[in-house]
Amino acid sequence: MARSRHSHPSTPRRYDLVLYGATGFVGRQAVAYLAAQAPAGLRWALAGRSAQRLQAVRDAVVAAGGTAAAAAGIVEAAADDTRALRALAADTGVVLSTAGPFARVGSALVAACVALRTHYVDITGETPWVRGLIDAHHARAAHDGTRIIPCCGFDSVPSDLGAWLVAQALWHRHREPCIEVKACHRLRGGLNGGTLASALHLLDSGQSAQLAQPFLLNPAGPVPAGAELLAADPALPRRDDDFKAWVGPFVMGPVNTRVVRRSVALLQAAGDAACQPGWRYQEWLRYGRGPQAALMAGAATLGLAAGAAALQWAPARALTQRLAPAPGEGPSQAAINRGSFCCDLVGRTASGQVLRGRIAGRGDPGNRATTVFVCESALALALQRHELPGGPDLGGVLTPATGLGLVLAQRLAAAGMVVGALD
Ligand SMILES: NC(=O)c1ccc[n+]([C@@H]2O[C@H](COP(=O)([O-])OP(=O)(O)OC[C@H]3O[C@@H](n4cnc5c(N)ncnc54)[C@H](OP(=O)(O)O)[C@@H]3O)[C@@H](O)[C@H]2O)c1
Repeated sequence: MARSRHSHPSTPRRYDLVLYGATGFVGRQAVAYLAAQAPAGLRWALAGRSAQRLQAVRDAVVAAGGTAAAAAGIVEAAADDTRALRALAADTGVVLSTAGPFARVGSALVAACVALRTHYVDITGETPWVRGLIDAHHARAAHDGTRIIPCCGFDSVPSDLGAWLVAQALWHRHREPCIEVKACHRLRGGLNGGTLASALHLLDSGQSAQLAQPFLLNPAGPVPAGAELLAADPALPRRDDDFKAWVGPFVMGPVNTRVVRRSVALLQAAGDAACQPGWRYQEWLRYGRGPQAALMAGAATLGLAAGAAALQWAPARALTQRLAPAPGEGPSQAAINRGSFCCDLVGRTASGQVLRGRIAGRGDPGNRATTVFVCESALALALQRHELPGGPDLGGVLTPATGLGLVLAQRLAAAGMVVGALD
């Protein structure tokens, strides 16, 4: 991770934080969250392609009791209006984007943030798009000390921050570097139309082959011999002794593992003693104990593989689009309230020291948790820049762990999540 040779612009900007995509399903929840949780005095605005719709969102949040939203500004900027996006980026210290599909609507906004040295977070899980951001912007953002941090939603904060916390805790307790972390997810939640639209856009774009590359997001350069094989995505369920349960492939694993591996590579390059070359990360979905769980793991794994194969076929994608929620829609409020997530982690050192960690919370992971993750990430950038890992001048296309680290962990714990090492 490079450090800036030029200090970041300190000229006051009109806003501390601008939320782009505020009219979307997650965007509307983020407006309500900021209205309730942002400190008094934070200057923030709602942004998107229609001022009228943004005003309607702001009015609805105010009417529902989020009176602090009344002071939030409105910024109109279409996703392809380079001039308007540059004006938006010039006017704020931090951009938080929930506008997707990111590969379709996100690139010009990130380019504007890099050009104007405006810090940026989002909730994308579109790793080929993130690869493009790294290639286009990492060097400039690193030079300028601008933090561009994609994947700050449920993909991939629990995995990335959790693995990093476990590795750090192993180092602090045993003075031994971590050689492996495994994560196991349990979750209860629904599907957003916007998430489906992003997945289908990725398949339509012809970039889905990149999803299978285990080191897709790593810095350029060779990976150690045999590493590709060891890092291959799990294809079959198994009984796992660390989690004492049947586990199987997790649908978001091919996203989260790439983000964690980028973190490890960036930390190793920066000389972090807790991370040794060859550090392995893999993740799973938990099905439980006993023969019934084994059957469920087998059936779900088959279903996942069949679904993924069917979606390679354009008519199957068109049918899915017709049956599933449309962009702008998502689970009901009651379903969001009923949801939950739990990411259990196990890390170990070469001498066999083992440490467990957990990141968990209530509410639908793709909505309630994602809103908390990304809003707290943006607030960390807006309010605690000097406490962030690497100091105020660190920049680049980063990850939640490398760009926000302990500050984000502390903010999530303060927001009511379970965050940290367990034993
Ligand atoms: N990381 C996670 O765990 C996680 C969880 C949930 C969602 N996501 C991702 O987050 C994104 C949003 O999800 P969502 O459910 O909120 O989707 P959504 O309801 O469809 O919202 C999409 C947002 O993008 C905006 N947008 C679309 N096209 C635009 C354009 N050309 N110019 C400007 N704005 C445009 C929409 O604005 P209009 O209202 O003007 O159309 C809306 O604000 C998706 O990519 C999804 O995959 C990630």
